[in-house]
Amino acid sequence: MTDRELINIAVEAAGEAYAPYSGQKVGAALECADGVVFTGCNVENASYGLTACAERTAVFKAVSEGRRAFLRLAVYMAGEEYCMPCGACRQVLQEFAPELEVLSARGDGRYVSYALRELLPHPFTLKTGE
Ligand code: THU
Repeated sequence: MTDRELINIAVEAAGEAYAPYSGQKVGAALECADGVVFTGCNVENASYGLTACAERTAVFKAVSEGRRAFLRLAVYMAGEEYCMPCGACRQVLQEFAPELEVLSARGDGRYVSYALRELLPHPFTLKTGE
C-alpha cells in the first residue's frame, strides 16, 4: 500500500469524527504487519478530558482485534496545519511499535513523515513477560 492510499483511508476515517466541541475532525489509519488497516477518529465528550484521539482509537481497535505489530500510521486533519500525534498518543503508539513510521497529512493533501523515535526520543518503557 502506498503512503497516499493509507492517507486516503485516514481522510475517510475523519468523516466519522465526533468533534462538536473543537470542530477539528481527525482521522487515523494504522497499518498492521499483516497488511490489515485499522481506522480511528477522535471522539469528543462534554467532559472535555474524556476525549479520545483518532490515533489511540485506531490502536485500541487494532489491539482488541488481535494485532500488536504496526508498520505505519497516517493521520489526517483538514486545514493548514499538520496534525501531529499528541504526547499521550505517542506513548501509546510506542508501546507496540517503537519503529513506527508516522505520516501526517493536511487539507491540501501534502504530508510529512517522521519516525516515531524522532517524535518520542526517550520513551518510558518497562520490561514485561509479553
Ligand atoms: N486530536 C486527535 O484526534 N489527534 C491528535 O493527534 C491531536 C488532537 C483531537 C482531539 C480533539 O478532539 C481535537 O483533536 C482537538 O484537540
